[in-house]
Amino acid sequence: MPFQSAKRMVRRCSAPLRRWLCWLTGGSWKRVVAAIALMAALAGTGAFVLVSLGLVSISASSGHWKATGWMLHYAMRRAVSTQSMGIKVPPLDDPALVLKGAGHYHTGCLACHGGPGQERSLIAQQMTPEPPYLPPRIEHWEPQELFWIVKNGVKFTAMPAWPAQKRNDEVWAVVAFLQAMPSMSPERYTQLALGWRSEETVKPVTPDHLRPLKDPLGPVLANCNRCHAEDGGGRGEGAFPRLAGQSEAYLLGALQAYARGERYSGVMQPIAAGLEPAVLEALAQHYADLPPVSRTDAPEPTPDILAQGLSLAERGVRERGIPSCVHCHGPKDGPRNPMYPNIAGQYARYLNLQLELFTAGKRGGTEYAHIMHSAAQRLTPEQMQALADYYASLPTKVAGALDKPAPTLTEPSAQTPLPQKQR
Ligand code: HEC
Ligand code: HEC
Ligand code: HEC
Repeated sequence: MPFQSAKRMVRRCSAPLRRWLCWLTGGSWKRVVAAIALMAALAGTGAFVLVSLGLVSISASSGHWKATGWMLHYAMRRAVSTQSMGIKVPPLDDPALVLKGAGHYHTGCLACHGGPGQERSLIAQQMTPEPPYLPPRIEHWEPQELFWIVKNGVKFTAMPAWPAQKRNDEVWAVVAFLQAMPSMSPERYTQLALGWRSEETVKPVTPDHLRPLKDPLGPVLANCNRCHAEDGGGRGEGAFPRLAGQSEAYLLGALQAYARGERYSGVMQPIAAGLEPAVLEALAQHYADLPPVSRTDAPEPTPDILAQGLSLAERGVRERGIPSCVHCHGPKDGPRNPMYPNIAGQYARYLNLQLELFTAGKRGGTEYAHIMHSAAQRLTPEQMQALADYYASLPTKVAGALDKPAPTLTEPSAQTPLPQKQR
């Protein structure tokens, strides 16, 4: 090394750290970078060789190293905490939300996470990371963090995202249930998640695996009835819609729309998508054949609200382009197009939610749903509530649906052909 450059190097290497680096590299920063890049490249090549030779442990049976497990959990905690910041938590101490959340928990979460009086499935316990038994874990999370986890799921684990990303309201229902779960007795859980079926399980019944021999629809219907009730009237509270008294064509259309993912619901989509087309037809027929029941247990609305609802339903608001609801949904003399649901005597809460979803473009539905999008678009929240209260207060049977769809009745969609029932 020439004398001049050596002197310059000593000057540059006065600080202790720099002196060490100068010793390492002979004084050039470019060489520091090159050395680091070389080490990284060697590590990368080594890792690639290990991966290519198939020597990396990916077996779920061997679990994670302690350090890997800790690192992954730490990353998850930090990500959830940061990314859930600013999410506004709605009121969650609502029995209808807890009921809806419990119904879905039984379908979509119990097998992996267990619940009050219920162990996780043996299969879930062989996953890495293992889904935790959830009740004691809830207190470690804020409600907005639980919302984030249930909505988005967790990468590199089996924790799935919510099937209908537009339906934040459904995710909040699950969060409301999760928050109530730690202090819930096994009996209360069974009552919420299984409904009236829990009473049946006390008596000796034909085991589920033998029932199909006698009654092919039995086990499927038992699942529907957890939420929609045996008489098709829903379970009070308005968490689940009434199905009895609805036309077969509409029920089938709704089930098919869920199955295709064109009506958005993380609760109903997975259920409908898992069933054969012929089973959906049989289910629609079953509920359409039940006598109409109404179990709306909401407090009686004031006469003012009912009058406002009645006037909106009959006349709409012409200057704002809101059509008369009665024209399609009744009550009116003469038959109704069976693809237009019978909303009289339906739960006010459910009707209001569906109207909110229509206005926000989050409802989806059958090929007729676009009609409702334009009908509901300009309604104010007060008008939606008045309409929901008005229709809920009516007797369920307002006008018989036609046996067959009649295109002449579909005023705004007269050109759209009605779907043929396939049977
Ligand atoms: C296929 C199995 C599976 C299903 C189904 C599932 N989860 Fe999970 N869940 C997991 C796994 C795996 C983790 C991650 C555990 C970890 O990081 O150690 C997890 C994590 C969680 C956590 C964070 C727990 C903690 O304290 O670390 C919550 C809360 C949760 N799940 C709620 C739910 C809810 C609610 C549902 C139903 C809507 C659900 N999960 C469905 C497997 C599942
Ligand atoms: C875990 C509870 C649960 C179960 C089980 C369940 N449902 Fe539902 N169902 C719901 C909820 C909640 C809605 C409303 C979803 C929405 O907002 O779109 C619904 C909506 C429906 C609708 C649309 C009603 C309308 O007025 O538009 C039909 C039809 C239906 N369910 C049929 C069934 C059938 C058939 C089964 C059994 C195969 C079943 N459901 C099982 C909770 C459930
Ligand atoms: C031109 C006919 C038409 C008019 C007018 C109309 N609707 Fe509808 N409505 C429909 C159709 C069709 C559906 C079913 C959409 C689907 O198939 O998914 C529906 C669905 C609904 C639903 C959801 C029912 C359920 O069970 O999920 C509600 C609530 C509703 N309408 C309320 C109203 C109100 C309130 C008005 C008046 C402001 C109105 N509709 C005006 C045709 C109409």
